[in-house]
Amino acid sequence: MTSTAPSPPPPCLLIVEDDPAILELLEEELQDAGYATLGAGSAEEALATLSHSEVALVVSDVRLPGISGMQLLEQLRGDGSEVGFIVITAFGTIDQAVEALKIGADDFLTKPLELEGVREAVFRVLENRRLIERFRQHVPGDDFHGIIGNSEPMQALFRDAARLAKSDAPILILGESGTGKELLARAIHAESPRAEAPFLAVNCASIPAELMESEFFGHRKGAFTGANDHRQGLFQAAHGGSLFLDEIGEMSPNLQAKLLRALQERTVKAVGAEQEEPVDVRIIAATHRDLEQEIDSGNFRSDLFFRLETFSLRISPLRERPGDIERLLAALIAKHAAAQEKCIERVEPAALAALLDYPYPGNVRELENAVMRAVTLAEAGVLSHADLPERLRHYREAPRRQTGGETGNALALGQSAGSWPSLEEVEKRYIQKVLDATGGNKRRTADILGIARRTLYRRLEEE
Ligand SMILES: Nc1ncnc2c1ncn2[C@@H]1O[C@H](COP(=O)(O)OP(=O)(O)OP(=O)(O)O)[C@@H](O)[C@H]1O
Ligand SMILES: [Mg+2]
Repeated sequence: MTSTAPSPPPPCLLIVEDDPAILELLEEELQDAGYATLGAGSAEEALATLSHSEVALVVSDVRLPGISGMQLLEQLRGDGSEVGFIVITAFGTIDQAVEALKIGADDFLTKPLELEGVREAVFRVLENRRLIERFRQHVPGDDFHGIIGNSEPMQALFRDAARLAKSDAPILILGESGTGKELLARAIHAESPRAEAPFLAVNCASIPAELMESEFFGHRKGAFTGANDHRQGLFQAAHGGSLFLDEIGEMSPNLQAKLLRALQERTVKAVGAEQEEPVDVRIIAATHRDLEQEIDSGNFRSDLFFRLETFSLRISPLRERPGDIERLLAALIAKHAAAQEKCIERVEPAALAALLDYPYPGNVRELENAVMRAVTLAEAGVLSHADLPERLRHYREAPRRQTGGETGNALALGQSAGSWPSLEEVEKRYIQKVLDATGGNKRRTADILGIARRTLYRRLEEE
C-alpha cells in the first residue's frame, strides 16, 4: 500500500452541439481547463451517452436537429436525473433561458459564446453541485462543538482550545465582532471537565457600573437601599462551572481589581458581607477590543490583562480564511432551511459567486444573516442572487473568480509568465485560434467572437 491516495478523476462533461467546429472548440477549451469531455452531435446521441457514462454536467445547445436541448433537459429531469445542465441559447432569447432555468437548468449561456464565460459557468455549476451535495449529506467536517472551520488557523485554534479546556486556567478570547467568540467559549466549556455544571454568560457592557459588583458577587440583605434580601451573584451561581465574561474591555477598573482578586484567591466577597467565600469558577473572557491600547489609555488594568492573557485564543477574521466560507455556507443554509422548514435545492451560480467573493467585515455573523435572509426569501427551492443583501450583490459587479484552478490564462494562448503579449497580440492570436477551430468559417468566427463580420474582415486585413 502506498500512502498517497489516488487523485479523483476529473469531472466528465458532455457537450451537445451539432456544429462540429464549435463542439471541438468547446471540448478543447474545457479539456484545457482540466475536465474530461464527451461530445454529442444531437440530443438523441446525448441520451445514449448518458445511459452508459458517468457524466457530471451537460452543456447543451438549445437548437439541435431532432429533439431540442430543452426537450433533452425536460426528459432528463422527468426521469429524475440530477445531472448538472447548462443550456446555450441564441442571443436575445432570454425567455428561453428563463424557461430553461424553470425546468431545471443550472445556468445558461448565450451565443456568441465567450470561452472564459463557458469555463466560469462550468466551474460554478460544479462547485454549486458539490455544495448542495454537501448540505444534503450533512458531511461532518472537522467541527469543534458546532464551530465550523477547516482552515489551518481554525484547526490550530480547535487544538489549542481542546488542550486549554482541560485545565482550570482563565482564558481570554480575542477576535473581531461576529467571529464566534461566544460560540468558542461555550465549546470550551463543553469540552472541559465542567461540562455538566452551569455555563453562565454575562455581557459586561450591558450591566450598569453601579450594579455590577452585586451582579457578580451578590449582596447581603440591607447592603444598600433596595437590597431587601440576600442575593447570590454570578460567581456563586456558576459554582463548579464556567462564567463567560463577554466584552471584558467594558468592565470598570474598580471591578477589574475585584475580578483579579477572585482569580488569584479563588474567593469572592458579596456586597455588604464580612467574609470572603470560596468559589470554584472557570473564567472565560472575551473582547473585540485591543486591550493593550486600553491599558495605554488607562481603561484596563495591566495586572488583570497579564493574568488573562497567559492563555489567550485569537479567532481569525473570516476574510483571512476564505476557504471556510464554503463549508459555513453549506452548514448555514442547511441550518436555516431546517429552521424555516424550507427545502433549498439550488444556489444560483451568481449568488454562490457573490457569497464566496465578499470579504465579510462583519465576519460569520454577517454571512449567517445574509444566508438567513436569502433562505427566508427563497422561492421554489432556489437561493437567488436577488435575495442577497445589497452590499454583497454590488461588491463586485461582474464577479470574476479564477476558474478550474488555472492561473489566469483563460484563452490558453501559450504565453509564459514574464513574456506577456500585448492585448493586440492576444486578440490577433485569439481570432486565429477561433478561425482555425471553425475551419476558417468567418461567419461562425464572428459569431463566436461576438463581433460584426465587417469588424472581423477589418481585423484580418490589418494583419
Ligand atoms: N465558525 C463558526 N461556525 C458556525 N457558526 C459560527 C461560527 N462563527 C460564528 N458563528 C455564528 O455567527 C454568529 C456570531 O457568533 P458569536 O456571537 O459567537 O460572535 P462574537 O465573536 O461573540 O461576536 P460579538 O463580538 O459581536 O459579540 C452566531 O450566530 C454564531 O453561531
Ligand atoms: Mg459575542
